[in-house]
Amino acid sequence: MRITLRLIAALLVAASLVVAVSTYLQVRAETRKLTEDLARRGSMLADALGELAAAPLAARDAAELSRLVQTYGGREGLVGVAVFDPAGVALAASASLTPDLRAVQLLAPRALGPEGRVSRLVRDRYIYAVPVRDEGTLVGVLAVVRDAAAIRTTLSRMWRHNFLRLLSHAVLISLVSLLIIRWNILAPIDQMTGWMKQIRSGETSAAPPVARGLFEPLASEATQMARSLAAARAAAEEEARLRQQGQSLWTPERLKEHVKEKLEGRPLFVVANREPYVHARQGKKVQVIVPASGLVTGIEPILLACGGTWVAHGSGDADREMADAAGRLPVPPEEPRYTLKRVWLTPEEEEGYYYGFSNEGLWPLCHIAHTRPIFREEDWRHYQAANKKFADALLEEMGDVRDPVVLVQDYHFALLPALIKRRRPDARVALFWHIPWPNPEAFGICPWQRELLAGMLGADLVGFHIQFHCNNFLETVDQALECRIDGERFAVQRAGHLTLVKPFPISIAFSEPPVRSQAEPSQEALRKALGATARYLGVGVDRVDYTKGIVERFRGVERCLEKHPEYQGQLVFVELGAPSRTHIKRYQEHMNEVEAEAARINARFQSKDYKPIVFLNRHHSHAEIEPYYKAADFCMVTSLADGMNLVAKEFVSARADECGVLILSRFTGAARELHDAVVVNPYDTGQTADAIRYALEMSPDEQGRRMAGMRAQLKENNIYRWASRLITELAAIRL
Ligand code: F6P
Repeated sequence: MRITLRLIAALLVAASLVVAVSTYLQVRAETRKLTEDLARRGSMLADALGELAAAPLAARDAAELSRLVQTYGGREGLVGVAVFDPAGVALAASASLTPDLRAVQLLAPRALGPEGRVSRLVRDRYIYAVPVRDEGTLVGVLAVVRDAAAIRTTLSRMWRHNFLRLLSHAVLISLVSLLIIRWNILAPIDQMTGWMKQIRSGETSAAPPVARGLFEPLASEATQMARSLAAARAAAEEEARLRQQGQSLWTPERLKEHVKEKLEGRPLFVVANREPYVHARQGKKVQVIVPASGLVTGIEPILLACGGTWVAHGSGDADREMADAAGRLPVPPEEPRYTLKRVWLTPEEEEGYYYGFSNEGLWPLCHIAHTRPIFREEDWRHYQAANKKFADALLEEMGDVRDPVVLVQDYHFALLPALIKRRRPDARVALFWHIPWPNPEAFGICPWQRELLAGMLGADLVGFHIQFHCNNFLETVDQALECRIDGERFAVQRAGHLTLVKPFPISIAFSEPPVRSQAEPSQEALRKALGATARYLGVGVDRVDYTKGIVERFRGVERCLEKHPEYQGQLVFVELGAPSRTHIKRYQEHMNEVEAEAARINARFQSKDYKPIVFLNRHHSHAEIEPYYKAADFCMVTSLADGMNLVAKEFVSARADECGVLILSRFTGAARELHDAVVVNPYDTGQTADAIRYALEMSPDEQGRRMAGMRAQLKENNIYRWASRLITELAAIRL
């Protein structure tokens, strides 16, 4: 209240000052104008009467002078006329002039001096005196006195008027200020205070009530703070619960301490082609996008927990403007915890290294999904150059950190481990391969298999998701290179360097209790938004990639509707498909196949307000995907080949209600861990159709049992455990 009063008082003082100064200037101008008018008229009259008085003055004709002053002294606006001899003695004056005569007497004789005519405003009288000459001889002075009371009246009216105006402004200013303060400051503060109390006491996790206006930046900071508080509280509760139960699950805090101890406080370095935050231009605004990537889902929680540096390709069209001159920026943007170092590639480098060698060559080579790999010499050269460029960037980031620990990610960087080790033999390097490793015969078609393997074996540790891929890799190395395979330790000894090859099934940051998210749409609301009146909802979430078995999945839905017509009109399958690598011809063809297949199946079964397949072909944020996971009766992951597939794990993680069924391809790494999923061969359409029906008809008890089993597995084997195993293993290696 005191602040409100102070603000209003300050506004009023300012307004009063403005009104006072402007009134003063207005009054001064008006006075000047009225006085000039009086002077003009006084001068004209005095000149005219002076001419009439010249002869009687020269003759000292008192009677004539008296007649003159009486005759003209009574004119409207005139108080009187007076005549003086050259010595300043009054010879005649109008009777009405008596009270003012003394003032006239003091001024008029000055007209005889060098000044000539004189005038003055004395109280309410305006005196104007002129010297009178008769044939060039000064014979006296004539003064006319005009009534100037009108000036005072006008000026006081002006002051009064402006004062009243000030008064009304004051009332208005006070009222408006009060309302503005009330609506825009006090009410939001009240709401924020109430919200903060609720957050503190854990009664709510909703977003702050104030989302716009003056308090928007504060509200957004408060939201971050509340999130951190909620996360810290959840972590503390979880820790307490675990202590209570004598368990020791891996949490971000535990990983942080573990890594600190293992790395003796040194920072962690990660190299991955895909960056965790892409800055993209959207009209005049810059948007932050978290890309659809299992790698980002898996790796980011580790850096959030432990800090460090993530070296990645800066692929967003607004990436440069958001990073410093060295390409660095703290992330996550809203609450920085680690450094993202962006490496810039030319369009030709990106074309050859990323689209060409990595994704038209190695990707189909490692995924046996019946797309022929393409190997071009030019792409290989770009791949080598890009690996070198990333190695240089990483070496620069490592600076003089002694014994640095580096986690290299994926097939984009097969050459990087050897490049790093050559220049920093003290570095401990792990390479984690996120995609499958095929059998030696399949891999052997790559013209540069020996160079790739040699680059990978520069690492101290090479990790795959499953033992099967490790075995394939060891066999490939055995057949392609001169080396010794240590079958007992699962290691390769080559040119005096030992590389361990081990499985590390990647996971997600499973959290229980689940992080409460803001008001999410219900299953009903989702169905409405999809325009579906159906009873059952299935979901698929993928990058649109030919390895994901999206077309096979649609055919499974089609077959299910054919075999079980009772589900026609009742089952909707939503595919949230993020466009991916659209630059590559095979991906464009695949996108067309997916769209055509959805259209074909829909044409068979759709009605006015129903279509069985909804293909939402755009990038969806995690917050957008989550409600679909929570509302779905089943989630289909039908990859034709997949290293792990974290979508399967994300679906399980979202189902804290222990409902819903996971239909999972046996060709995913996840199928080796999530034994309670309904496992299918996606090439077998009939089996997939049966699995859908089985999921739709599964009893809530069975759903609960299966889901609880998978959740327990995930809870135990989360990403923090994955990172702790990898880092422990790496730190234990004797260089
Ligand atoms: O599975 C391989 C992989 O690199 C993943 O780690 C990631 O989820 C996906 O491919 C993303 O591909 P890109 O980075 O090419 O969009």
